[in-house]
Amino acid sequence: MLNPNKSPKRCANISRIGKNKTMKPQQPLLQTQRLQMRAFTPSDAFALVGIANDRAIADTTISVPHPYTLDYAQTWITQCNQEWEEGQSAPFALELKDEKKVIGMNALRHIDREHAQAELACWVSKNWWGQGFATEAGEAMIRFGFETLNLNRIYAFYMARNPASGKVLTRIGLKQEGILRQRVRKWGIFEDVVALAILKEDWENNSQ
Ligand SMILES: CC(C)(COP(=O)(O)OP(=O)(O)OC[C@H]1O[C@@H](n2cnc3c(N)ncnc32)[C@H](O)[C@@H]1OP(=O)(O)O)[C@@H](O)C(=O)NCCC(=O)NCCS
Repeated sequence: MLNPNKSPKRCANISRIGKNKTMKPQQPLLQTQRLQMRAFTPSDAFALVGIANDRAIADTTISVPHPYTLDYAQTWITQCNQEWEEGQSAPFALELKDEKKVIGMNALRHIDREHAQAELACWVSKNWWGQGFATEAGEAMIRFGFETLNLNRIYAFYMARNPASGKVLTRIGLKQEGILRQRVRKWGIFEDVVALAILKEDWENNSQ
């Protein structure tokens, strides 16, 4: 869920990822028990600020700035939609079905068509932590990545001091591959990062 590197633009259109599958240009809706996962729209900017301008979100992520401004949110949403269209990432707003309220985001980013892999990233509003939402959204994203994007490998990173993230990622099937010592610098301190991944064959075997 962390990636300290700005990835080069190395992906072709998502529409060319699938085996004989063509993806509609419009981002699909993913339904889980409690969530509707959908594309971000400009009107989500205020909600994003309300969630992500919490130091607790920035504290264990690299790509989330602090403070998180409205200007940043608007630019980020534009970038999300552009990256979807260009096949570089699949960012989803996590919206509560009942309340129609956005409580976080989940994304497959740095989509790499040549090697059929992408990075899973997620954050959830602190008000909703510990209720299984990251797990629920993560399971849907893994399915989407393997079934729709036809990925072979989904990887993620988290700071070693962030056990909640580790729990979510292992619960949805990722396996630890190593520790990247002092891989990132957060608030001026070098931090160890845990690397994990799930292969399509792991997921298929576990799904049976
Ligand atoms: C990591 C994050 C996405 C988890 O979201 P969430 O919706 O609370 O996750 P879930 O409820 O599905 O699961 C979290 C699990 O971690 C557990 N957990 C929380 N804090 C923990 C801790 N300090 N030690 C061990 N487990 C912990 C919870 O109890 C829960 O497990 P349980 O369901 O067995 O009780 C959320 O905390 C977050 O957005 N953090 C800030 C941003 C971030 O770190 N994103 C990930 C970047 S790698």
